[in-house]
Amino acid sequence: MANSKTVLVTGGAGYIGAHTCKELAAHGFAPLVYDNFSTGHPDFVRWGEFVHGDIQDVPRLTRLLLEKKPLGVLHFASSIAVGESVEKPDKYYRNNVYGTLCLLEAMLTAGVRDIVVSGTAAVYGHPDEVPIPESAPFDPASPYGCSKAMVERLLLDFETAYGFRTAVLRYFNAAGADPEGEIGERHEPETHLIPNIFRAACGLIPALKLFGVDYPTPDGSCLRDYIHVCDLASAHRLALEKLVGGQKKLRLNLGTGFGYSVKEVIEHARRVIGKPVPFKVEERRAGDVPALVARADLARKTIGWIATRSSLDSILSTAWRWFEKDSLKKVTL
Ligand SMILES: NC(=O)c1ccc[n+]([C@@H]2O[C@H](COP(=O)([O-])OP(=O)(O)OC[C@H]3O[C@@H](n4cnc5c(N)ncnc54)[C@H](O)[C@@H]3O)[C@@H](O)[C@H]2O)c1
Repeated sequence: MANSKTVLVTGGAGYIGAHTCKELAAHGFAPLVYDNFSTGHPDFVRWGEFVHGDIQDVPRLTRLLLEKKPLGVLHFASSIAVGESVEKPDKYYRNNVYGTLCLLEAMLTAGVRDIVVSGTAAVYGHPDEVPIPESAPFDPASPYGCSKAMVERLLLDFETAYGFRTAVLRYFNAAGADPEGEIGERHEPETHLIPNIFRAACGLIPALKLFGVDYPTPDGSCLRDYIHVCDLASAHRLALEKLVGGQKKLRLNLGTGFGYSVKEVIEHARRVIGKPVPFKVEERRAGDVPALVARADLARKTIGWIATRSSLDSILSTAWRWFEKDSLKKVTL
């Protein structure tokens, strides 16, 4: 197994998983995508093999792991919309918590012990300290955040009981797209700020909804830490290499340590795309916190990760190029 180059990638047909498959392939690994296409896309599966399946299907996953003997697992498959999780918490606990338990059971049976998991800043809820260190207490404000906190607990117990080596990478706001334009962000419904800025600028929606301008921040809108999806992808590869090399446990924030307000992102986008961005101020949205910014030095110290592509210019220009190709193309056909 140690000589295997195969890496099982659950959710590899989704936004962050697909970018990570490209990164893996570029570094000599063989991604094996396992996805049920619930929110993923067949045209995002371009690197390595594909198996259609659900993470809750333990027998199927176990057989696959026994057959392919991957050196480890990157686990992206999850339900991801905070708002939906408030309306349908059962869906989130089933897919995220029970789904992860199924995956871990299959790994246990098949003797695969190394796993890197998509975490989220949503586990911190309303942090006392900003920038937020990894040691901050968990206080998730939504079933989504809570399901991810529960996944972290599962991993801890599998480390202790069965010697799993686990990494959780807690992303802040994933954004941007593949600089070569092969893949990018395509969520339906789209809840993320930058694609919605573009949709408003191009008239695909009447206006961007700006939720809350009375937060205790310099311009009243929320501050977020935007991290380029290709930087997330490289962190996954580095974390996996570290686990395979013997590291037992990693819990890392993935952010830049720098926050931009929603208004700043809108203004920056206007300059990058050369179009005005109509927006409409709405009431604060339940669950939103004023500032979510990572303390981001631990990932550099432990896995040598440096966010090289996460300037706002690089995020917006790569995202825009992808949006023009993917979304505008469909409208003008
Ligand atoms: N996008 C962000 O800003 C962000 C921020 C923090 C954390 N995350 C986490 O990153 C991960 C990936 O997010 P994304 O933005 O790429 O989402 P995405 O919806 O684009 O990708 C998720 C993928 O998982 C697949 N999937 C879902 N449930 C499955 C199941 N039961 N079995 C098999 N496949 C399944 C989907 O089909 C999809 O391809 C998620 O775990 C998410 O919680 C994302």
